[in-house]
Amino acid sequence: MTTTTDGFGRNSEGVATLGGRPLPELLRESGATTPAYFYDLSGIRARATRLEQAFGRAPHLTAYAIKANSAGSIVKTLLAAGTGVDAVSGGELELARRLGVPARNMVLSGVAKLEREIDQALQTDILAIQAESPGELLRIEARARALGRVARVALRINPSVTIDSHAHVSTGHDKAKFGILRRDLGTAFETLRSSEHLQLVGVSTHVGSMLKAPAPYLESAAVVCDVARDALGNGHQLEYVNFGGGYGIDYGPGALPEPAEYVSAALRFLAEQGLAQLKLVIEPGRSLVGSFGVLVARVVQSKETGLRPEDQRRWLMIDAGMNDLMRPALYQAVHRIEPISALPGRTLHRVVGPVCESTDDFGEFGFDAAPELVVIRDAGAYGFTMASEYNGRALPAEVFVDEGRVVHVSPSPGVEAWIARRLGA
Ligand code: LLP
Repeated sequence: MTTTTDGFGRNSEGVATLGGRPLPELLRESGATTPAYFYDLSGIRARATRLEQAFGRAPHLTAYAIKANSAGSIVKTLLAAGTGVDAVSGGELELARRLGVPARNMVLSGVAKLEREIDQALQTDILAIQAESPGELLRIEARARALGRVARVALRINPSVTIDSHAHVSTGHDKAKFGILRRDLGTAFETLRSSEHLQLVGVSTHVGSMLKAPAPYLESAAVVCDVARDALGNGHQLEYVNFGGGYGIDYGPGALPEPAEYVSAALRFLAEQGLAQLKLVIEPGRSLVGSFGVLVARVVQSKETGLRPEDQRRWLMIDAGMNDLMRPALYQAVHRIEPISALPGRTLHRVVGPVCESTDDFGEFGFDAAPELVVIRDAGAYGFTMASEYNGRALPAEVFVDEGRVVHVSPSPGVEAWIARRLGA
């Protein structure tokens, strides 16, 4: 039997396994209908634990970007390993609060926070509301004044750093909507100086997703450290610097640096900058959960098209579509697709979903024979959280596995849930 660090492997018969158990068996045992996400909680726990250990005794907060995967079983696993949460909406903030995340282990990000979300953050008394523009700082000030509170705020900086990633997940360049440009910091500091309702506690950034190495991360961290020094020089009682998340995972068979490696590099950098007394906050999402989830789908049928020999194409139609896993349609992402009960084969098939869109296409993969079930790999991050009911399709099921045991099943709400809402609309 082979098992990779993400908990998925193959047994001697070539059947895909999770935590050492054959996936078809786990599917049967769970009673879930396909398409179904399967997650390996033990893998997530191990990775988060290694990450927390990498901080040693340094003051820190891992603010898990809950948008990557907000399943209660997963957030609780991460919480038990010592992480907090980075939320980007009132909904995520309230979910994290109800899951037991301590208020001071939560930050609120987002370019257009609603007044009620600002109020919610103020009332919960979270670590900080991370302001993304001078105008937003004024809106936070107004809400804090109205509620008679002092808002704990951080400035999210746009460091003007371009990373080697898909344009849709690159956020730290100066044409992006995110963060405060250095040019506009003077206005922000002026607002902070003149208000009794704002307390600057942090300086943050998030340069984008799918980083392949720590270098661009440290490039944006350098800007954060510069601003942090200015803030300290201006008499602000800064508590933290936040270098953001964005640690990539390998969607192929390889492996990229683990989050722990970014942390070691960040801690060294902070010490070099003379700022080791500050708490180091990071916001990883994908790297904590992405490799530890797969989407299991059933093959509906196959089909051949093309009149001329050179146009001939073999299709494999599955019961998971872009509404279940949007990343291929949205970012041309490639998630490996393999038969569940056999090793990948040689005959190339385009694997597509049932949705009436040409972009409902997962790419080309090899099969020796049309399988009954397939596994779509590395679907633990931005999979279920981006799913929709487009085309009148039910949201997928989710199955949580710990040390090879099914510990929780979140069934599909079924298509009736969709019909009832649309009937009432
Ligand atoms: N912090 C902030 C403020 C963010 O906006 C994000 C992600 C993160 C942290 C976490 O980034 P991560 O460590 O997961 O790369 N849906 C896309 C990714 C969008 C990321 C949005 N922001 C995808 O599926 O690739």
